[in-house]
Amino acid sequence: TKIAVFASGSGSNFQAIQEAILRGELNAQIKLVVTDKPDAFVLERAQNFQIPTFAFQAKNYESKAHYEREIIKQLRDKEVEWIVLAGYMRIIGQTLLAAFPKRIVNIHPSLLPSFPGKDAIGQAMEHGVKITGVTVHFVDEGMDTGPILSQAAVEVVEGDREATEKRIHELEHELYTSTLKKLFEN
Ligand code: GRF
Repeated sequence: TKIAVFASGSGSNFQAIQEAILRGELNAQIKLVVTDKPDAFVLERAQNFQIPTFAFQAKNYESKAHYEREIIKQLRDKEVEWIVLAGYMRIIGQTLLAAFPKRIVNIHPSLLPSFPGKDAIGQAMEHGVKITGVTVHFVDEGMDTGPILSQAAVEVVEGDREATEKRIHELEHELYTSTLKKLFEN
């Protein structure tokens, strides 16, 4: 399965997916890494694996439809079948959704529908929940909405954001890989 990973930041999920592919656990190829942040660390990670990248800046385009058309060109060029969002901090527009119907997935660091949007881990700690987790879901026009594919729970380490975050990220790396595996096998 030919996939593209979209990320705006560190790219630890990208790395976990690529490592699972290299270990032979996931039958896929990352054909392209797409980012809206030309200085995102994910670009360095992609280079280390010699995976092609496409970096754009939204401000250089007239509208979301315009930059999404450019992204689609890049994806078609690489024959990408699935889009995997991993810390991509933009809402996917109608242009991209229509080009990849039911072929875009996202990971979010909470048990949706609780705590959508930015800083889900901070939101969960602020609220004082004892259990939070990770969700993988199909992407629709909303923010962190769309049919849920898989979830896993973790206990919050009270008063320790860093430790909680570490647990969540480790769980993300496992859950994303195993969910993609099931998705691509069907
Ligand atoms: C992850 O927590 C993901 O769930 C969220 O953004 C974060 C990205 O982390 N949507 P990384 O860039 O993969 O390290």
